Amino acid sequence: MLLLDMQSVKVIYPGTFDPLTNGHLDLIARGAKIVDQLVVAILRNSDKGTPLFTVVERQEMIAEAITQCGLPNVSVATFDGLLVDFARAQGAKAVLRGIRAITDYEYEFPMAMMNRKLDPSLETIFMMPTEQYTYVSSRLIKGVFKLGGDVSELVPPLVMARMKAKAKGTVVAG
Ligand code: PNS
Repeated sequence: MLLLDMQSVKVIYPGTFDPLTNGHLDLIARGAKIVDQLVVAILRNSDKGTPLFTVVERQEMIAEAITQCGLPNVSVATFDGLLVDFARAQGAKAVLRGIRAITDYEYEFPMAMMNRKLDPSLETIFMMPTEQYTYVSSRLIKGVFKLGGDVSELVPPLVMARMKAKAKGTVVAG
């Protein structure tokens, strides 16, 4: 950072995170290296249908993963309503989003442009996760796991444990 710019750079990494994947975690670690503060923000009023995990469970898992990865400048929060309003309330300068493939770009571009329309001062930063996770999505993880597939290398172990507990109907302490 330039010495003249003494302001801390806060960035929001928003999403549904149902559940957190290794791809998300990879992006969080990359983002944390280039900003002063990174806030992982879980959307509360998602229209993606019935989630696997409650917002509280997702928040607990993300907080635990952040601690395990030793990322002191990363925090987790929840929001509803417009992302630009949350970003403004947080004093954030930008939004971080991951791009895995060209199809992500098609989904991300209108959102980034709409956010710019709503708040021209808020930038969107795109980063790419490591190649190893370019095909990983929460939706795919849930679908494969439901059918008995092994997704243990694609989500953090703590998420895997919670998914197994969910499937068995037991509770894992946060
Ligand atoms: O993980 P996702 O589901 O791809 O994340 C989508 C998210 C949460 C970033 C997006 O749906 C969002 O920002 N929703 C908040 C509502 C909003 O601000 N809409 C206008 C921008 S398109």
